[in-house]
Amino acid sequence: MPRLCNSETWKNLEEHARDPELEPIELLFKKNPNRSEQFHLKLGGLYLDYSRNQIDDKALNLLLKLGEKAHLKEQITAMFDGKKINVTENKAALHTALRHNKNRLSDNSLSKERELIQKTLEKMQLFCHEFRSEKILGATGKVINTVINIGIGGSDLGPKLVYSTLKKNNDPQVLFASNLDISDLDPKLQEVDPEKTLFILASKTFTTAETVTNANVAVDWLCEKLNINKTKALRHHFLATTANPGIAKEFGIESGNIFEFWDWVGGRYSLWSAVGLPIAMGLGYEEFEALLEGAEEMDLHFENEPSITNMPIMLALVGIWHTTFKDHASHAILPYYERLSLLPDYLQQLEMESNGKMVDRSETAISYQTAPIIWGSCGTDFQHSFAQHLHQSPTVTPCDIIAIIKDNKDQKVPKSLLANCLAQMEALAFGSQIRERSEKEMKASRIAEGNRPSNLIMIDRLDAKTLGSLLALYEHKVFVQGVIWNINSFDQWGVELGKSLANSIENDLEDTSNSSKVVGSTKNIIDRIKMVDNRSSRQ
Ligand code: F6P
Repeated sequence: MPRLCNSETWKNLEEHARDPELEPIELLFKKNPNRSEQFHLKLGGLYLDYSRNQIDDKALNLLLKLGEKAHLKEQITAMFDGKKINVTENKAALHTALRHNKNRLSDNSLSKERELIQKTLEKMQLFCHEFRSEKILGATGKVINTVINIGIGGSDLGPKLVYSTLKKNNDPQVLFASNLDISDLDPKLQEVDPEKTLFILASKTFTTAETVTNANVAVDWLCEKLNINKTKALRHHFLATTANPGIAKEFGIESGNIFEFWDWVGGRYSLWSAVGLPIAMGLGYEEFEALLEGAEEMDLHFENEPSITNMPIMLALVGIWHTTFKDHASHAILPYYERLSLLPDYLQQLEMESNGKMVDRSETAISYQTAPIIWGSCGTDFQHSFAQHLHQSPTVTPCDIIAIIKDNKDQKVPKSLLANCLAQMEALAFGSQIRERSEKEMKASRIAEGNRPSNLIMIDRLDAKTLGSLLALYEHKVFVQGVIWNINSFDQWGVELGKSLANSIENDLEDTSNSSKVVGSTKNIIDRIKMVDNRSSRQ
């Protein structure tokens, strides 16, 4: 099959992106004062304005053509239908089936999966109801009112983001521990009452070193604090959310305490599954349902809307223009809402673990840029740290600016916050040009040139439903980009090497004899660690 990157469309895009005559954002607006009208999309409570990018009609048409040539629509259908699109692992990527799919209940395809999903959802609903009506008791008979979720990556970032964004004052406390460094879990253990605390061990594989280590620490801590044996501790205080119930049982989790999901749900796409249990417990099952509903709304839009009015597709195409054709290596996520401060972390895994790849779906090395580096922070804080770089550095960083008008308690976000958000967008796009000024009077060091691309995603009311839509928007953006870059967005082989090396290096670090199996530069570092260790143990 001819490769998309060798097509005329791809070459035209490369040429057009390098064309010195390509008009800057300011001129695009001067020529078309209705540009914001033309370059915006609405869905439910979400509004995407992508007019402040240096993209003209020619670029847009070529990008849309690229999508057609990549058979984007057919690929979208294949994903929703549960085809094995994760080719390196011969698996489907069926996170979309986890949303409500009310509109698909009559559809017999995926009936086996739907039955499994329904069973887990019912179990989650029942458990949440009991938890929130104070019917779950710990080993000493006290009511459980606190949850600690132990998991990492996709088994941590999604639920942590949703809970911290939407938590209300009277919601139960849910804490999250992920890091192998005990200083993550330890202070949380100090903070909680062991008699009233429930641990959720969240791991798709149930073999992840960080999670298993922290789980063992938590079990030992609880046994010691309550003076009970391991079986009793596990029965009353430990749940598992996993796609590997066998290993969870071997660990000692009772079947009734296991909330299952399945191999066809990728880790970073798993917050919609049983991995969302801390969301449902912390915010209420209805909130979890609303999250699924919001995601489903985005799914239906993504599946059915023509490309030009399709929010995830347009967001993805704009991103491809920046990354692949304009060579912008990074992309900043800038929410103007403190409680979305974990969004950049969440999107880091979603985008970089999905599309940070250099081999295409036919195992051929690729010659173009794929996933940009995702980073970011909340406004207005970032304005006083890295905003200078965004406005005046020679390196251009496209941004997604996320604005909220009202929160889930119907509180309006302060106007000053929104004013700062809009000011940044204007300054990035139009630079100092926006103000009537005498250029001659201005020193070069004071001039912001503008022409810095940004998208605005504005949310009328940030609640569980719109947050669900927002996260599904990014999931589908990542999928579209994967299709056009011709990479498998659903595997993560790159993280495996580090895991296996860490095991052999740990063995070496523990080895008290001087016979290191590791050679080269790492051996010198191991020797130094051992020397410092020995020195401190002699003191
Ligand atoms: O190492 C990467 C990864 O496999 C992620 O893809 C995943 O979300 C995370 O580790 C945690 O994996 P698990 O849920 O199996 O513990």
